[in-house]
Formats: sequence, structure tokens, C-alpha cells
Amino acid sequence: MARVLPSPGVESHSFHHNTEDRDVTTFSPGTPPSRSGALPSMLYHHHRPTPSPDMIDIRSSSTSLLDTLDTQTLSSLLKPPGRKFIPSLLLWDEKGQSLYDSILATPSYYPYRVENTLLQKQISDIASTIASSTTDILVELGAGNLSKTALLLTALDRCLDSSASSSSRAGNGKVVYYALDVDRSLLESSLAQLRKRTATLHHIELRSLLGTYEDGARWLSQPDLAPYRKTMVWLGNSIANLEKEEASDLLAKFTSSQKNGMMQNLAGFLLGVDGCLDEEKVERAYNAPGGENRRWVLHALEAAGEQLQLHLGESKMFDAKKWKFEGRWDVGRQRYENYLVPLKRMEAVVKKGEKKVVLEEGEKVFVLGSGKWTARDVQGICEGPGLGLRRSWHSEGDDYGIYWLQPGKKRLDSGIDMKNDEEC
Ligand SMILES: C[S@@+](CC[C@H](N)C(=O)[O-])C[C@H]1O[C@@H](n2cnc3c(N)ncnc32)[C@H](O)[C@@H]1O
Repeated sequence: MARVLPSPGVESHSFHHNTEDRDVTTFSPGTPPSRSGALPSMLYHHHRPTPSPDMIDIRSSSTSLLDTLDTQTLSSLLKPPGRKFIPSLLLWDEKGQSLYDSILATPSYYPYRVENTLLQKQISDIASTIASSTTDILVELGAGNLSKTALLLTALDRCLDSSASSSSRAGNGKVVYYALDVDRSLLESSLAQLRKRTATLHHIELRSLLGTYEDGARWLSQPDLAPYRKTMVWLGNSIANLEKEEASDLLAKFTSSQKNGMMQNLAGFLLGVDGCLDEEKVERAYNAPGGENRRWVLHALEAAGEQLQLHLGESKMFDAKKWKFEGRWDVGRQRYENYLVPLKRMEAVVKKGEKKVVLEEGEKVFVLGSGKWTARDVQGICEGPGLGLRRSWHSEGDDYGIYWLQPGKKRLDSGIDMKNDEEC
């Protein structure tokens, strides 16, 4: 089947193949799903402004985590002590993103800088690996501030330039890049910045997807997108915010359709994963003396309070002064865990029904984990979803890895031994 290029726009949903001359189509990949009923109380979107022309709202009202945050938060706080959690998605609103940026600026927060340096060093090789997979659509999951994206797209554009001139690449040599994230204002501002930084590129179009990872997997599995080769980019060790099993399950949603279990037209996955197992270094990065991490994690309380206003009213329970932050390295799980702990017993009655949220003094409420996975861990996680490790690039000392995975490739026993084993 001839591969054709999605063009911008969110209005139409027509799809025209032109198998003769491979013309650009008028396909518009995805209209916002129709929504009915009252909107739930939402931290991110109290109303739904019309998306900007480059932004596609892919949230699904029935299943998107974003649209059920209030009920998820409530039900997780109704669990018995030791099992309560605050959904980490609450950390990623506008204020949370800016608190997270202040963590990135601390000298001890190494993962961001190490990944950046690794990308800078290996970018030509990484870009040519992606280009050689003849991808049409590049989706960056949890795209954030897009600070590393211009580097990748510029290098990719250069590869596409040379393959266009040597006519070795099938299709029309265009790639549509989608930044996917849950924060609308961050997406808008970072895409505008990215546009400026990539204004001279010839082969790349920029757009954004507003929704969660799961929304992204669902959106990509729509039949209209089946002819397009898709590459997923997931940097910043974000995959390791999930438990290993959850990560495998999520990857599987991208490798096989949720409807019919058929493999998607997936070209590959580029994953940035931190494998540092030095407990002290990790502790310094995730619990900086300046309190940046603590302030960010405590922000989840403000966000939870907003979410739960409808259910609990103006509860004082989420006042940050009534809690403390606790971080710890879990050796068995290979991850740094962030908890919030009530300083004294608190309770609040749920408006509908007879339930009560009860928080005991000192009970730990889980917020977010950051796993540290080696090449072997990454390989194990990707096996179930049918992804094989094809290339990897490592930081000095080998702690941080950028991994290129493709569907159906054979398992390689050591991710480290096989790094850079193929030239494109
Ligand atoms: C650790 S930051 C990484 C940002 C960027 N990719 C980088 O490498 O610097 C994680 C990003 O993922 C987004 N995010 C978190 N959970 C998400 C989810 N469930 N679905 C989509 N995006 C999510 C956050 O809004 C945030 O921008």
C-alpha cells in the first residue's frame, strides 16, 4: 500500500489515497471524540476551549484518565492504609510543570542533563536509525517542554534530505511530528517555541495531541491511520514512572490494536531510560537540599483538593502544612518512591453516600515512582509487547540508555553488547 502523508487540520476526517502519484492527501487524523453529559470536575480543563488548529484533542470522556481524575483520586484515598495513593497525573498541571522545571535546574538532578548530553553526542546515528525505518508519523509521548526535540527533528530532517536526494526512501519523505501531553498550555507554548527553532526544516510538520498515553495508543489504532508507519519517542525516563508490568502493558497498547489484537504499523520505539543504581546519587537527585522535589510532590495535594471539591467540599485535608514529603529508594523495585504523609489523623465525609476518607497519622500515601532500569530490564519489559531491542546508545559509565526497539525482532541477550551493531 502506498504510504501517504497526514496533513494539518482537525475539522475534516476524509482520507484519500492516491496510489498513483503518492500525492499529499487531505486526510485529517482525528476529530475530537464527541462528548455528552456534564464535564467532571477537572484540574486541567474546567471548560474545553476549541483546540488550536495544530492541536488534536484525543481525550476520550469514558476512559481517559484525565477525565476521571476526580473519581480515581477519591477511590484511591478510600483505600485502607498502606494502599492509598494520589494519581501522579495530578502533578502535571501548569503549576506542577513549572515546579518540575525547577527540579531540572538543580545541580543534583542528573537524568535530564545526562540524557541531553547523550542525545547531543549520538543524534546523527539516532536520527538515521529512525529515518531508515521509513516512518511517516513520529509521536513524542509526554513531550513536556520539547527542549530536546528540535535537536532530534533537525537531525531527522537532514537524514530525510539526503534520502530524498538519493531517492532511497519510499513515500514522499515527509514526517508528521506530534507532541503528546496532558497539559494544554504547555503543549501550546512549547510547540510555538519548537516551531521557531525548526522553521527551516523541509520534511517535518508539527502538531500536538492533547491526551494521555492511553488516549494516544487508542488514537493511533484508528483504521484511518493504519497505512502510516509510526515511531514513538518516549524520553526523560518517563516510562519508568510506571511499574515494570504497567510499562509492558502500556507498550502493548501501541504494538497491537486494542480492538482486534492485530499489530499496528509501528516502525519503532525510541526510549530514554535511566539505569543508575547508585542509591546516594539517586537520593540527591530526587530529594534535593533546596526542597524542589518536595515542593513539586506536595503540589499534588493542592491539585487533589481541587479535584475533590465536588466530593468533599472545601476540605482542609489537602493543606500542605498538614503533610510531609517522604522519599525513599526501594532496592527490590529499583525505584525511588515519593510519598506524602499526614502529620495527624484527618477525616472528611464524602458528600454522596456514607463513606469517609480517613487518613491516619503517619500513613504513607504513594504519589510517584522513578524506576532505574538497566538494558536487561528494558529488554525484559519490551519482550511481552513484542518489541525487540535493535540498537542502544549509552552515557559514559553506561547508566543512561537510549534504546531503539522494533516489533517482532529477535531478542538479543545483552543490550549492552549489541549497541550500535548496525549502520543505516
Ligand atoms: C518527566 S517529564 C518528561 C518531559 C520530556 N519528555 C523530557 O524528556 O524532558 C514527563 C512528561 O509526561 C507528561 N505526562 C505524565 N503523565 C502522562 C500521561 N499519563 N499521559 C501523557 N503525558 C503524561 C507530563 O505532563 C510531562 O510533560
